[in-house]
Amino acid sequence: MKIKVLGSSAGGGFPQWNCNCRNCDGVRRGTLKATRRTQSSIAVSANGEDWLLVNASPDLLAQIAANPELQPARRVRDSGIAAALVMDAQIDHVTGLLMLRERGTPLPLYATDAVWQDLSQGFPIVPMLSHYCGVEHRRIALDGSPIEMAALPGIRVVALPLSSKAPPYSPHRDAPVRGDNIGIVIDDTASGRSVFYAPGLGAIEPHVRDAMRDADLLLVDGTTWTGDEMIRLGLSNKTAADMGHLPQTGAGGMIETLDALAPLRDRAQRKVLIHINNTNPILIDDGPERRVLAEHRIEVAYDGMSFEL
Ligand code: MLT
Ligand code: MN
Ligand code: ZN
Repeated sequence: MKIKVLGSSAGGGFPQWNCNCRNCDGVRRGTLKATRRTQSSIAVSANGEDWLLVNASPDLLAQIAANPELQPARRVRDSGIAAALVMDAQIDHVTGLLMLRERGTPLPLYATDAVWQDLSQGFPIVPMLSHYCGVEHRRIALDGSPIEMAALPGIRVVALPLSSKAPPYSPHRDAPVRGDNIGIVIDDTASGRSVFYAPGLGAIEPHVRDAMRDADLLLVDGTTWTGDEMIRLGLSNKTAADMGHLPQTGAGGMIETLDALAPLRDRAQRKVLIHINNTNPILIDDGPERRVLAEHRIEVAYDGMSFEL
């Protein structure tokens, strides 16, 4: 299977339009060794022509333009995007669905019931799109049953419920329900290899740890380096945990979590951080934080990064 990183940054992108933090200012002026990144999304394909869009970022049109394999041009109106799957109802993961409105047929959309409800009420993309191409709900069950799609032969997707939060506009923001946030395991039955993808991972619950241990490729929450990064920069009053994200450093952080998986495996595993917030110092290619990650054999995703598994 092929995996393409369409967008590797968290909500807001890098640089964020109104942000003049060290990273955003430095990448804008070209004074930092860092690369621009668009908002959070990947695409998955079995044949390199038909793709499952996993999360639909506000930057989707630019991402399609930057990844010509998503446009096989088989007919006068055409796209390689056969279906979409969303992992939560956050702005950075669903807004791009509106950009698919010119489709000739309803968009098959894989979502949990909780996310479908948010997209019907809190952020009513589904009723809006009913006036354009329409959206067909393909229900993501949370019982571990695999999702199979005709466009992705041999590929199976299993969803894992994550304990995190629904977006601020969700009717169940303050009363979390199972399915507000998911991680996914994508399995290629032909190669026997798998990916675990979770751009938002607030806590490493036992079922999450098991899935992480078993995957050949991890694409996991790389939002912040420290828990209080945004607070210290005076940019927010929320910790990473308040936003449902696990920082890289500190006790029980992502570096420690990833290190602890290694001895449990008999095969090599690639560990890649994704959904990186613009404040995170790991965005600086020649910075000390990047050297720390390298010592732990942890990579940093960039737009256009691709994997063949
Ligand atoms: C998050 O994951 O916390 C988001 O990136 C927030 C947002 O999109 O505004
Ligand atoms: Mn996000
Ligand atoms: Zn910034």
